[in-house]
Amino acid sequence: MREFKDKVIWITGASSGIGEALAIEFAKQEARLILSARREDELKRVAILTKLPELDIMILPFDLSDTRNASGLAAQILNKFGRIDILINNGGYSQRSEAGETSIDIDRQLMEVNYFSYVALTKAVLPYMKRQKSGHIIAISSIAGKFGFYLRSSYSAAKHALHGFFDSLRLETEKQGIKTLIVCPGKIKTNVSLNAVTASGAVHSKMDESHEDAMSAEECAVQIISGILNNKEEIYIGGKEILMVKIKRFFPKLFGRLIRKQSPY
Ligand SMILES: NC(=O)c1ccc[n+]([C@@H]2O[C@H](COP(=O)([O-])OP(=O)(O)OC[C@H]3O[C@@H](n4cnc5c(N)ncnc54)[C@H](OP(=O)(O)O)[C@@H]3O)[C@@H](O)[C@H]2O)c1
Repeated sequence: MREFKDKVIWITGASSGIGEALAIEFAKQEARLILSARREDELKRVAILTKLPELDIMILPFDLSDTRNASGLAAQILNKFGRIDILINNGGYSQRSEAGETSIDIDRQLMEVNYFSYVALTKAVLPYMKRQKSGHIIAISSIAGKFGFYLRSSYSAAKHALHGFFDSLRLETEKQGIKTLIVCPGKIKTNVSLNAVTASGAVHSKMDESHEDAMSAEECAVQIISGILNNKEEIYIGGKEILMVKIKRFFPKLFGRLIRKQSPY
C-alpha cells in the first residue's frame, strides 16, 4: 500500500517522539517530507532514518514560538516541491505547574507554541491548498484538549483552543477540497513529560510514571495515518485513559469523581 507515495507532507515536531515516528512511517510509503523543529542536528538524524533520497526530503528548522515568517517557510516548500499535500501541526510542549504558581509569560508562551503556531502555519499553507483544490491539515491536540487536568492549565487551554479553530476551519474549507483532522493522543511514550515546562520556566526533566508503559510513538503514528486515510475528523489514541473522553461526555458526575483521583504524573 503506497497511498502517500509522492505526497508532500510537512511535519512539525519531527525531531522526536510522535513527529519522528510519523516521518519514518510516511517515508516507508515513499512520501516527500519536510521536517521541522528547532534542533537541526536531530532533524538530520531523523532524515537519515527515513532513508529518503535528498530530492525527497527537506529540513526546515525554526522555532514555533516565532511564526512571523510562516508564509516564507511555506514558499520555500513550494519552491522545492511545487505543492503541499499535508500539514501535520505536531510540535509543542506540555506543562507541569499549578496555574496559581505559573507566570502569565509562561502561559502566553504555551499558547504561542501549542496554539498560535498551528494557526499561523495553517494560514500559510491554505492559499496553496485552495489553489490545488486539495489538502489535509492535521492538528495534534490531546485528551487534555477535551478536559482539564492537574498541572496542565495553559497546555490544556491551548489544546482546547485547537478544537474551536480547526472545527471551524473544517466547515469553511471542506468545499474547497481541504480536510481537517484533530488527533487527541492520551499517554504516548515520548519525551513529552521530560520537556514539559515547570513554574520556574525550567524543563520538568522527569518521565511521568504513567508514560513508562504507555503506547509507543510508532503505534500512535500508525493510528494517525489510518485516521488520515479514513478521512476521520477527530480521533483518540492511547490506552484506557482515552475512555475518560467518553465518560466525561456521557457520565459527567462519574468523570468528576474519577479525574480527581488521577495522579498528575
Ligand atoms: N506524548 C504524549 O503522551 C502526548 C499526549 C497528548 C498530546 N501530545 C502532543 O503530541 C505532540 C508531539 O509531542 P511528543 O509526545 O512527540 O513530545 P516530544 O518527544 O517532546 O516532541 C515534541 C516535538 O516538538 C518540538 N518542539 C517543541 N517546542 C518547539 C518549539 N518552540 N519550536 C519548534 N519545535 C518545538 C520538539 O523539537 P525541538 O525540541 O527540536 O524543537 C519535538 O520535535 C505535541 O503537540 C504534544 O502536545 C503528546
